[in-house]
Amino acid sequence: MNSTIEELVQSLTLEEKAGLCSGRDFWRTKAVERLGIPAMMMSDGPHGLRAQKPGSSLPNDSIEAVCYPAGCAAAASFDPTLTRRMGAALGREARAAGVQMVLGPAINIKRSPLCGRNFEYYSEDPFLAGELAAAFIQGVQGEGVAACPKHFAANNQETRRLTVDSRLDERTLHEIYLPAFETAVREGRPWSLMCSYNRVNGVYASEHRQLLTELLRDSWGFAGFTVSDWGAVNDRVQGLAAGLDLEMPGSGGVNDARLVEAVRSGALDEAALDKAAARILNIVLRTADLARAPAEHGAANGHALAVELAKESAVLLRNLGALPLHPGQKVAYIGAFAETPRFQGGGSSHVNTRGAVGALEAARRGGRTVQYVAGFPADRDQRDEPEFLRAVAAAESADVAVIFAGLPEFFESEGADRRHMRLPDCQNNLIARVAAVQKNTVVVLHTGAPVECPWAEDVSAVLCMYLAGEGVGEAADALLWGDANPAGRLPETWPLRLEDTPCYLDYPGDGVTADYREGVFVGYRWYDARRMAVRWPFGHGLSYTGFVYRDAALDRPTLTEDGEATLRVRIRNSGAVPGAEVVQLYVSDATGAPAPGGRVPQALRGFQKVRLEPGQECEICFTLTARDLSHYDERLHGWYAAPGRYELRLGHSSRDIRITVPLQFETQRFPPLTVDGTTPLGLLLADPRTAVTAQKLLDGRRGDGDGLMPPEAMAQMLDATPLRELTDCSAPDGLLAALRRDAGE
Ligand code: BGC
Repeated sequence: MNSTIEELVQSLTLEEKAGLCSGRDFWRTKAVERLGIPAMMMSDGPHGLRAQKPGSSLPNDSIEAVCYPAGCAAAASFDPTLTRRMGAALGREARAAGVQMVLGPAINIKRSPLCGRNFEYYSEDPFLAGELAAAFIQGVQGEGVAACPKHFAANNQETRRLTVDSRLDERTLHEIYLPAFETAVREGRPWSLMCSYNRVNGVYASEHRQLLTELLRDSWGFAGFTVSDWGAVNDRVQGLAAGLDLEMPGSGGVNDARLVEAVRSGALDEAALDKAAARILNIVLRTADLARAPAEHGAANGHALAVELAKESAVLLRNLGALPLHPGQKVAYIGAFAETPRFQGGGSSHVNTRGAVGALEAARRGGRTVQYVAGFPADRDQRDEPEFLRAVAAAESADVAVIFAGLPEFFESEGADRRHMRLPDCQNNLIARVAAVQKNTVVVLHTGAPVECPWAEDVSAVLCMYLAGEGVGEAADALLWGDANPAGRLPETWPLRLEDTPCYLDYPGDGVTADYREGVFVGYRWYDARRMAVRWPFGHGLSYTGFVYRDAALDRPTLTEDGEATLRVRIRNSGAVPGAEVVQLYVSDATGAPAPGGRVPQALRGFQKVRLEPGQECEICFTLTARDLSHYDERLHGWYAAPGRYELRLGHSSRDIRITVPLQFETQRFPPLTVDGTTPLGLLLADPRTAVTAQKLLDGRRGDGDGLMPPEAMAQMLDATPLRELTDCSAPDGLLAALRRDAGE
């Protein structure tokens, strides 16, 4: 605590301290006028400002603002420089509106495609989500405005979101659901962080000492204040003691009184309240000057940036040649989304924007001639026969049919999960019919999450815009007609069907608990482990040009526990137009070491987006440390990489690996190994500490069972045989004792 803040806290009464720890209203903290402490104003959200109109107390009465691509789309840019720029633009808009804290980024992991809020979230992969989040936070805070990563933690569904108990094992929590927050905190250094509504293994996130204090502050070094999601407080006193500083939006004084009472009765240490008040005050004062120095944000600049980001975020999923379109072609635009595109989701992130332009309007403004037939409505699943037939006829008589499809708004919103993964039938049916009469059929998708695409193999091209913000139409126009080159990559797997998804059997749970039985096998970790066919894999995205990878090399063949290795590779644009490649680095553990809970086949550990002119080549490099090879080991309660061989896979997507480079890892660190009569021999043979002694034991038994069974079967049986069957456990100098010594017991 710095001394000014400390002095201020000392000057506050107990009631004032408690009062500072909850909101005055929906969006503001309380001022303490006698000490010159101002209120702090906050607002959503992750992809645009939802600031309450000054003087208005109506719900959802927010000022007009720029709507940038939602998290699903921004993540598809695979480009932290863009999330940083988006954060900075939001920071400037916030300043202009007198807002000191932006409630974003939203970085929960996409466990199931059905989660109603996936459109706000970044990815199924914690590494990607963390890097994008850290950059976003730096962007916002570079403008002097606090960012607030949310919702901490294991908040992966909307069904019963206020009370659901997310049940997951230690490894899964640490390996999948926490790392994006850890990176956001360590690299982004956010001034605040929002806890989620749900419980985590039985304890409300708003009362979770292990999460809010031990991990967040003690281990990751978080120096800001924590805030409850709006209404997430269960027991205010327990929450404060566990590390929850600010309650929002406040309880009308009820919980403030409880805090005061708890301090008076000795149930709550006043020092804990002092700390919470100090942490909040620190940021209130740091951001207070904003009100005195409002910034200009310039809506026009904001819109141009929104268009640029939307272009960078769109993913070309398939292209047999129908794209890009050519000026001489007769083009039919079909689907109401061409006129009224869907570009953001419902709920607290909803931005009041007037700036959105549809692709049809963008084409007209650009002087392009296209025929338009709505074919189906954008807001419901309803087939209108004459309209349907008009659309089919228009497609048939054109050179190319572009169908603008997507999910109606009520399909994906905060507060509700989807029940299925399908587009409305009226859309699927029309796409299938059009594809049957027109070989150059292009589908443009406006969805916040994957949908089943039963017609995927029948159409020529698919361009996914996700929920692209107000720049959606202009971006789609530029990409379809080749004025821009698609450069997005999928931040999540698109499965063939809902039934294939990792938590299909458990999602969203029984209403009380959500069991994360799939463990660490989330997203591509699941599909890869099961070698399943998917519609489009994680990291996938096409371009109008091609890229060649060559000369991948490591600066050393071996990495050690505290060392670093640098991997270089050269990338060349081998096509005829400028384009961007996202070079992805996946690490695969080929050590063969036993992995409790299973080993994921590969994990993303690096990515870089490079923009190249035709024929241009560049070199990029990745730096790796032991952590990049590691998984979370519950026996160590920490990260661990076994010694041995790893594969560094460089690729265009998780399933399009272009070059693999081996790396040897050396370490003397091992997880604890318990040797007793029940330990199977195989475990000891596989562990370098005990392998030699165990081999002696095995050699002593060679020949046992000769002729009874094939040698492989015999080996397997011995592998599974507990020591008690193989040695005299009571002999003090026997092999058992030697093995114990080897294991370091
Ligand atoms: C949402 C948060 C949001 C808050 C304030 C909550 O319902 O979960 O993401 O920041 O409302 O609008």
